[in-house]
Amino acid sequence: MNSIDNSVIERVQELHTLLLRYQHSYYVTGKAEVSDLEYDRLFDELVSLENKYPDLKSPDSPTQRVGSDLSSDFPEVEHTIPVLSLDKAYSAQEVLSFIDKCIKNSSTNSLSFVLEEKIDGFSVVLYYKDGILERAVTRGNGFVGNDVTANVKTIHSVPLRLSKPETLAVRGEVFLPKEDFQRINLTLDEPYANPRNLAAGTIRRIKSSDTARVPLSMFCYEGFWENAPFSDHLEILRHLKDLGFKVDKNISCFCKTREEAERRLKEASLEGFAGSFEDISLDIKQRTSTRSSLSYEIDGLVLKINEIGQRELMGWTEHHPKWAMAYKFEAPQAQAVVESIDVQVGRTGRITPMARITATELSGSVIRNITLHNQDYVDSLELAVGDTVEISKRGDVIPAVESVIEKNSKGNTTWVMPSVCPVCSSALVKKGAHTFCSNPSCPAREKGALDFFCAKKQMDIEGLGTKTLEVLYDKNYIRRIQDIFIFDWDALVRDGVEGFGIKKTDSISKAVREAVKAPFTRVLVSLGIPEFGKKAVDLVTSAGFDSMEKLLSATEEQLSAIDGIGPVTARLIVESLHEQSMLTLIRDLESFGFNMSSDVKEESDPSVEQIFAGQSWCVTGTFEHFKPRDKAMEEIVKRGGTEVSSVSSKTTCLLAGASAGSKLQKAVSLGVRVVSEEEFLRMIDSPVEEKAVSSTDELPGLFD
Ligand code: IVH
Repeated sequence: MNSIDNSVIERVQELHTLLLRYQHSYYVTGKAEVSDLEYDRLFDELVSLENKYPDLKSPDSPTQRVGSDLSSDFPEVEHTIPVLSLDKAYSAQEVLSFIDKCIKNSSTNSLSFVLEEKIDGFSVVLYYKDGILERAVTRGNGFVGNDVTANVKTIHSVPLRLSKPETLAVRGEVFLPKEDFQRINLTLDEPYANPRNLAAGTIRRIKSSDTARVPLSMFCYEGFWENAPFSDHLEILRHLKDLGFKVDKNISCFCKTREEAERRLKEASLEGFAGSFEDISLDIKQRTSTRSSLSYEIDGLVLKINEIGQRELMGWTEHHPKWAMAYKFEAPQAQAVVESIDVQVGRTGRITPMARITATELSGSVIRNITLHNQDYVDSLELAVGDTVEISKRGDVIPAVESVIEKNSKGNTTWVMPSVCPVCSSALVKKGAHTFCSNPSCPAREKGALDFFCAKKQMDIEGLGTKTLEVLYDKNYIRRIQDIFIFDWDALVRDGVEGFGIKKTDSISKAVREAVKAPFTRVLVSLGIPEFGKKAVDLVTSAGFDSMEKLLSATEEQLSAIDGIGPVTARLIVESLHEQSMLTLIRDLESFGFNMSSDVKEESDPSVEQIFAGQSWCVTGTFEHFKPRDKAMEEIVKRGGTEVSSVSSKTTCLLAGASAGSKLQKAVSLGVRVVSEEEFLRMIDSPVEEKAVSSTDELPGLFD
């Protein structure tokens, strides 16, 4: 430090102060003090000084918000404050009874309440020491959470340095504004169900530079000091604001009289609604009806006793303070307890955690098992065995865990994937977001591959269903796909295997002989290469890679140049095709007489003009003339077009029927041509050369 000129040190300090002030005015108070250009100029000056003099880079520097590319994990840390939840009510009546109870148990006759919005985000505790943000920790189980400091530092509304050198803990909610959610979610391969889940996933990004790309924000609502000099909550909110935190201004204060409430708000220099106790249910009603006009999601309201002394008198349970109550807008769809979490091994070796819940009825069916997708999903829910969860049926079909309603009382922390495969005990390895069994001969993988190969959508070998294959595998008759074609099916009769009579084995061996005639595209799908299902196979073969020979010499670059095939899929195809076991399987299938090229274009009809040749089409919504809508797709494929299941900038057209939703929005935002049913009918009737409107650049994918 000694060798650095004093004028440089002073300039760095000056830039710190200026930039922190500008960040605060832009992101917290919402009023920009300087132009973007001026801000960028000062920011760049600070970056270059910090690069030149790394000793001057401090943890609260405004440049820290851009995040880093280094991987970080999220070690478990103990909270130094109890991170309690809230008791819940689902009717205004319950809230009124809560107020009555508080008034009855209080030792003052001037009790007051503050009503806040219940921000539907991700709960985080910020720990400051002498005014510097030292640590940001997730709620976890209330005692232990994950250290997510690097990621939280990228949130501009979180002050890195406070206006006073205070030591405190602050509770708040990280959230993503609705508009940003809509915009970002459209660009994701696997969209999130709501802004809360996207915010939670973003807070757990391994690289903080990824978090920095999402415009998260944070409202703070509770502060904890060692010796707090505050007598009421309004004062605390005011003080949090003065320290630099973003505090929700949509608050209400209720006292015996409206005048008294007005006085309280004024004393704290806060804006908000002032009312008497009689006004509470009306205010709840009002806020419920205006909820949708907010720029962020709230899932309820929180009513809190204002006086700190009275809060202490009321006390806490292990789970929630007795001085506050959450009013939730909607009762959970259903509640269930997670009894256990175990893992399933798929045919690619992918490990999927499954929650086993108390049998719960939801929209007409009983749910016992819910997929938890991967470790990241479990982490973003901070889910542990024993937790009470809210469950829903996404799209009215797939059961999902939406959130943890109540943590378990056993102190179980967030569930962690085992380190070895539950079937073969081999080590598990993480690739991208998922975890895989590292053993290619894991019985679960081998059974899965057999089952997939024989299933209806692939080779469609009648008689070789999941259960039959399982018996044949366990009895060591059929272990690999090749075995199906060299096995002497009569052996089952000779060995007297239960359930296999002459009739059954005859029909299986006939179906096996038939399977050899399957078209090349079906053979390719049946290999079970990840991401190389029917759609991708059709795209690749119609792009000219229509024989095994051509495919085996294709490069990643050549495949990813095909419309609809991304770089990840291209890499997976090339890598999987060249694995030794796959090459052996391909060679063996060829020797059994399987088709290794598509001589005839399977789907195109030579008598129909190929007006959509080279074009990729996506179909969405409902149609009058095409029921089901696959019929429209058939017309496209018949005319040389290819089918894609989602819209990207590479899509030529979106055929949109009635009640088209997110795909339509995405097409419009990407500048992809949208074709109505009427226009489409005209196109297939009298083919006119139609040019697709050029697409805008694809928005950056965040989680690929
Ligand atoms: S007060 C001891 N106020 O809701 C203080 N919580 O379902 C307890 N939340 O865990 C929290 N908005 O993560 C409080 N204005 C607000 C809130 C709020 C959202 C979250 C918080 C809490 C959860 C309970």
